[in-house]
Amino acid sequence: MEINLPAVLPEHIGIIMDGNGRWAKKKGLPRTAGHTEGAKNFRRIARYCSDIGIRYLTVYAFSTENWARPAVEVNALIRLFQEYLEEAIRYFADDDIQVRFIGDTSAFPKKLQELIATTWEVCKHRTGMVLNIAMNYGGRPEILMAARKLAQKVQAGELRPEDIDEDSFSNELYTAGQPDPDLIIRPSGENRISNFLLWQSAYSEYVIMDILWPDFTPEDLNFALREYAKRSRRFGGI
Ligand code: IPE
Ligand code: IPE
Ligand code: MG
Repeated sequence: MEINLPAVLPEHIGIIMDGNGRWAKKKGLPRTAGHTEGAKNFRRIARYCSDIGIRYLTVYAFSTENWARPAVEVNALIRLFQEYLEEAIRYFADDDIQVRFIGDTSAFPKKLQELIATTWEVCKHRTGMVLNIAMNYGGRPEILMAARKLAQKVQAGELRPEDIDEDSFSNELYTAGQPDPDLIIRPSGENRISNFLLWQSAYSEYVIMDILWPDFTPEDLNFALREYAKRSRRFGGI
């Protein structure tokens, strides 16, 4: 592939991996087949982001609202998460990607929770791209969690209410210590945020693309990067 990358790349990219179900439907396949294909594509795009030097990638894999789906679909997604982590633990030993998890993973079956813990152990000293996998993640629950933790600190006398500021708040989020996403890409054509990184995306640039996630290629990512490079980020200034 001819790589035509702009000079200015985002430090942190977020991707809402959407459109697996519609991809499967178009092909006359069950929705779960779309998720299998989406999971394959996640591997490809994560690798590509790491190869081109992106420092942080956050992918939305399962939202706090996705429990509303039929049990067969939820179970298929959980199986795919397990397969990916088993593979990551066993075969990606030479990899430099640091896999992290954002969201309330305590809601998942024990086996998946154990795989999450092992993945973190295997990855925690790595210095390459940080890959945040958002699983049972919702922006509002994350903000509530941070508010609760700060309230507990106030109650314990460790913090004064007037000391709560954007930094202390950010430090209680799952993404503590990481830069905010510069670019958020939503494939599948939906023009909405669906509870993704609500606090962190205050000044993110959005690129919505009319491509279903399993069809999203590295060239599509390059397109989003070129769009991003054209934006004038003013952060309220002039
Ligand atoms: C994204 O694809 C995967 C998850 C939300 C887990 P969808 O399953 O939402 O696919 P569509 O939007 O129905 O096509
Ligand atoms: C957002 O997609 C969540 C993930 C991609 C994991 P959804 O398909 O759940 O979002 P809505 O329902 O279209 O807003
Ligand atoms: Mg969807």
